[in-house]
Amino acid sequence: MTAIPQVTFEHIPESAWQSPRRQFLKRFMGGIAATAFLPSIELLEAENTRNLLIEAARALAPGEQGDERFWAVVKDQFALGEDLILMNAANLCPSPYPVMETVFGLTRDVDGDPSFTNRAKFGDLRTRSRSALAEYLGADPEEIVIPRNTSEGNNVVISGLTLKPGDEVVIWDQNHPTNNIAWDVGAQRHGYTVKRIPTPPNPRSSDDLSRPFVDALSRNTKVLGFSHVSNISGVSLPAKALCTVARERGITTLVDGAQVFGAESLDLHDMGCDFYTGSAHKWPMGPKEAGVLYVRKARIPDVWPLIVGVGWRESPDSAAPRFEALGQRDDATLAARGKTVEFHTTIGPQRIEARIRALAAELKHQLQERIPGARFHTPLQPELSSGIVVFTHPGVDLNRALTTLYEKHNIGCAVMRGDFAGIRLSPHVYNTMDQVERAVSAVESLI
Ligand SMILES: Cc1ncc(COP(=O)(O)O)c(C=O)c1O
Repeated sequence: MTAIPQVTFEHIPESAWQSPRRQFLKRFMGGIAATAFLPSIELLEAENTRNLLIEAARALAPGEQGDERFWAVVKDQFALGEDLILMNAANLCPSPYPVMETVFGLTRDVDGDPSFTNRAKFGDLRTRSRSALAEYLGADPEEIVIPRNTSEGNNVVISGLTLKPGDEVVIWDQNHPTNNIAWDVGAQRHGYTVKRIPTPPNPRSSDDLSRPFVDALSRNTKVLGFSHVSNISGVSLPAKALCTVARERGITTLVDGAQVFGAESLDLHDMGCDFYTGSAHKWPMGPKEAGVLYVRKARIPDVWPLIVGVGWRESPDSAAPRFEALGQRDDATLAARGKTVEFHTTIGPQRIEARIRALAAELKHQLQERIPGARFHTPLQPELSSGIVVFTHPGVDLNRALTTLYEKHNIGCAVMRGDFAGIRLSPHVYNTMDQVERAVSAVESLI
């Protein structure tokens, strides 16, 4: 495995990193001599915290998971409020200090000097972010697009593929609107049909989940589009098995990875999908608006661009200039994307996945044990689920649950409506086992 390139910023003037507080202190103290001994308190603290994480991760043997002390060090990497129990990773995650600082430092740098010459470095930094993402996802850099988010990635593919009357698109009925209603809009325009496939409410095996899709494929099916993990039920589909069947039949696959990217180790070449999408601000804990769209190399010429930007003619074999050229972007954010990958590799992607799964398993276990009558929309089996836990109870008033959990118990989570009505808890590495216990107590008190 080649090393993931480190994003370094030696060439950025030191002043770019100074916080307003430090500059205020500088002015207050007056003069260079006084400030020479005045380090930025925030930066020093952040630096120490980060170093502690690097040391703590190094101290673990390969494959060793780390105990609660290790995860407390991870938790310290975030600016989360002391009393807040945030279990809403399926929606929006905080970025750790190194990512925040990188966005902040680079923004300060570019706003201090927006000249072409100063901004020249961003080309290289964006390339490094792309290479880091490719390595992280088991893909090649020319297959990686950095769109704003999953919504954009899905729509680039849906609007860019050529489909005609008589063609059929098969989708999961649990797909997010951007891989769901977006197909209906395309169907209205181009005359193809969309077939929605339900999966059984209590699946017992991966086969139970894949069979309905396989049975639904026909000679007319041109695309199979599904969420890798459902944001409304937490069900995890057997993505590789589905992509394999589709590929054997010449069917294009669009896998929406919004609830997997950043939470689970992925190898997209091994999965064999044509397109895979994700957002940075969910499980990757990255900067906002720097998601991912993977386009399998052979499929790059098959997708028409939504926007024809600079670079369209010059790089026909590379996905990025074709689908990412949206005019001027937020260079600082795109450059900081590599820092997010670095944060994940410092902890270890397998370790992150195992931790998320351990927190979700503990949540399920305690909810089952302590709340008789709790009904799960998310399968209890780990192989059929991931980091999302959706459940309900006849005694819980879902109309008030979100506000009560937040206002009385400091818990940030989500409430689902419709077929999967219930409370959704989605814990991440910044949560502790103690918080799991407190979250279950809070739910208990709602009944
Ligand atoms: C499965 C799935 N796809 C797509 C999205 C859209 O993500 P974004 O708003 O980051 O584009 C979400 C958001 O929750 C999601 O859960």
